[in-house]
Amino acid sequence: MNELRLLRPDDWHLHLRDGAQLAAVVGASAAQFARAIVMPNLGAPVVTLEQASAYRERIRAALPPGSAFEPLMTLYLTEATEPAAVRAARASGIVHAVKLYPAGATTNSAAGVRDWRRVSATLAAMQEVDLPLLVHGEVTTPGIDVFDREQVFIDQVLVPLREQFPALRVVFEHITTRQAAEYVRTAPGRIAATVTPQHLLYNRNAIFTGGLRPHWYCLPVLKREEHRVALVAAATSGNPRFFLGTDSAPHAARAKEHACGCAGCFTAPHALELYATAFAAAGALGKLEGFASWYGPDFYGLPRNREQVVLRRGPWQVPASLPFGAETIVPLAAGETLDWQFAGALR
Ligand code: NCD
Ligand code: ZN
Repeated sequence: MNELRLLRPDDWHLHLRDGAQLAAVVGASAAQFARAIVMPNLGAPVVTLEQASAYRERIRAALPPGSAFEPLMTLYLTEATEPAAVRAARASGIVHAVKLYPAGATTNSAAGVRDWRRVSATLAAMQEVDLPLLVHGEVTTPGIDVFDREQVFIDQVLVPLREQFPALRVVFEHITTRQAAEYVRTAPGRIAATVTPQHLLYNRNAIFTGGLRPHWYCLPVLKREEHRVALVAAATSGNPRFFLGTDSAPHAARAKEHACGCAGCFTAPHALELYATAFAAAGALGKLEGFASWYGPDFYGLPRNREQVVLRRGPWQVPASLPFGAETIVPLAAGETLDWQFAGALR
């Protein structure tokens, strides 16, 4: 197969940042994807409908002229988020989910939730109005090993939370372990998971190959090979509970090549190429369209896109770095040769 056609995909987990950084990255996502679920973890988190609406306008204003890219907004759940706020968000039609960051789990999560039981009334309102909960699935307990945070989160948070709110739609974001894939595959109720390109392509050795490699550091951190293999099996299985979410998380090169480097891989410019590489390696290119273009909108209750896009086989080199406002940014797999190239909309 030298050409792959698929319905235009969407990105169900994306960080777009703000200001000059937003302007530098949004065009890359808009080139490949029709829509994206936009994460709310700005420096000043997006906690109200008004903030989500204003952020949506800033994103739209930063798009290349003529782009029809649609930002699907989310709210950042804090322990002060009122049930009324999620009802208003639901009624607006522009907010499509609420994101739970355990406090301290990742970039800009300080305002997150320390104990989900404190937000029970808000979760009950979300269940009632059927607004999905997106979870960053890691516990932050200092005694829990960083590589075990996701599997412990399943037992300590996800299972009891979903027992209390069995009708709440939940997306387990950027899963990284065999345990998470197994949970999502077998759990009762309305649950799905996003899977990133880096967790399909790399195991944790990538962070340490010949030295410390900050551009392979993201959260949840890459895991052992057995977990990568389990994620590939899940993503290529054709099970609609697993769909595309890049977690493209841009940070300036300077902020990652640092004594205390930021977590996040920048994959927006070559997201489909990276996913196609992972699916091709598994002999499963035929399963890419469902994962990238069907199951996400189905889960979110949105129409599938109509337009088709094309990927062509042929080697090309990922740029070593790209402009990022006044700074530069290093994309994932910088300098490496990939075998699939995005060729735009089918004409
Ligand atoms: C994300 C970011 O930088 O905003 N970083 C990351 O490593 N994925 C936050 C997140 O999704 O955890
Ligand atoms: Zn993320």
